[in-house]
This record gives sequence, C-alpha cells and structure tokens, in this order.
Amino acid sequence: MNFMDVLNKRRAVREYTQATIDRPEIEALINAAIEAPSAMNLQPWAFAVVLGQERIDGYAKRAKDWLLASFAQSPEQAHARHMLEDPHFTLFYHAPALVLVLAKSSEAQAVEDCCLAAENLMLAARDCGLGTCWIGFARPWLNLPETKAELGLPDQYQVVAPIVLGRPIAWPESHGRRPAEIYWIRPAQAEQHPAAMAV
Ligand SMILES: Cc1cc2nc3c(=O)[nH]c(=O)nc-3n(C[C@H](O)[C@H](O)[C@H](O)COP(=O)(O)O)c2cc1C
Repeated sequence: MNFMDVLNKRRAVREYTQATIDRPEIEALINAAIEAPSAMNLQPWAFAVVLGQERIDGYAKRAKDWLLASFAQSPEQAHARHMLEDPHFTLFYHAPALVLVLAKSSEAQAVEDCCLAAENLMLAARDCGLGTCWIGFARPWLNLPETKAELGLPDQYQVVAPIVLGRPIAWPESHGRRPAEIYWIRPAQAEQHPAAMAV
C-alpha cells in the first residue's frame, strides 16, 4: 500500500477475528509509533501491551461497570450510558491485543506527542493489515490509581490512548468527512503590492 492508501483506508475497526497478534508484530508498530515528532524531542511516551482476548474482555467488563456506576444518572452522559447499558456492548470489541500509549511526564505537550505516536501506530497497523480502534471510553478507568497499580504502571504516567488491535473481520466503510473549514489568511495590502510602499 502506498502512504495515501494507508491514510485513506485506516478505519476504526470494531470486529476482530480470534487470531492472536504476536510480540514482534506489536514491537514493529511501537517502533513506528516512536518515529512521531515530539516537542523538544522529549519523546515523553511509554507503551503497555495487554495480550489475550479473555483478559482484555475482563478489563472491558470492569471498565464498563465502573463507567456505568460513575455516570449514575447524569443527563449529559445519557447517550454514553444508553450505549453501555446494552448487555452486548463491550468496550474493547473482543480484540486480541490492547496497546496503551502513556504520557510519562506532565510536560505541557506530552499528550500531543502521545497522540501523534498513537496515530503513527494506527497507520502502521493498517499498513500491516491490522485493524485498530482508539477507545477513549476506557481512559478514565485505566487512569484510576488502582487500575494502574494492578497493571504495574507507574502512577505518575497517564494513559492517553488505549488502542485495541487485531485482524479485522472486515474493513468498515468510511463514514466520510465534512469538507475542511479553511481560512486562507490574506496578506496585508502592503505585502501584496510591495511596490506601493515605495510611492
Ligand atoms: C480520541 C478518540 C477517542 C475514541 N474513542 C472511541 C471509543 O471509546 N469507542 C469507539 O468505538 N471508538 C472510539 N473512537 C473511534 C472514532 O469513533 C472513529 O475514529 C471515528 O468515528 C471515525 O471513524 P474512522 O476512524 O473509521 O475514520 C475514538 C477515536 C478517537 C480519535
């Protein structure tokens, strides 16, 4: 695939086969992730990898229960609650692998750096025929001190991007994009006609 195909054909994948993903495949994706630019080249990221569909399903259930309890009756969360209340809905879509992109520091731009690393990882996965989906829903539960302790992650690290990974049952169609809103900033009059300045 050429680069623009990878870019255009990456999709959020929510149905995976049961095929496992092995460590070298994931290491290759992480190596692509760390090619991302970062503010002052601080490279403030770390990665955690969970393998095994059953284990990931278990985390999905716990995260969902926690979210449902914490949303309580808040009207702003009604849509999310409705989704979570569906007994068939599972946060990690039965994926065989879950990669967490973690910000190691609270540097002002560490989160942006991690988002760039996450996008690199998702594009590299697409290039290898693997599907991904960023699961923002799971972030609050993953960032609980007790969850980080259980996973063996340093408490000061912040989970920025939980990304499930696996072989897609099918590649979803794109939902399309709205045209970009672009402001072409016009140069000031004098810059447009420098000769006018001389008159
Ligand atoms: C920050 C972020 C959080 C997301 N959280 C979720 C999520 O919790 N669950 C989910 O199914 N998809 C999630 N997605 C995937 C988006 O829904 C998806 O990227 C979007 O609908 C566009 O579809 P596409 O990626 O196939 O182009 C998230 C994506 C991003 C960038």
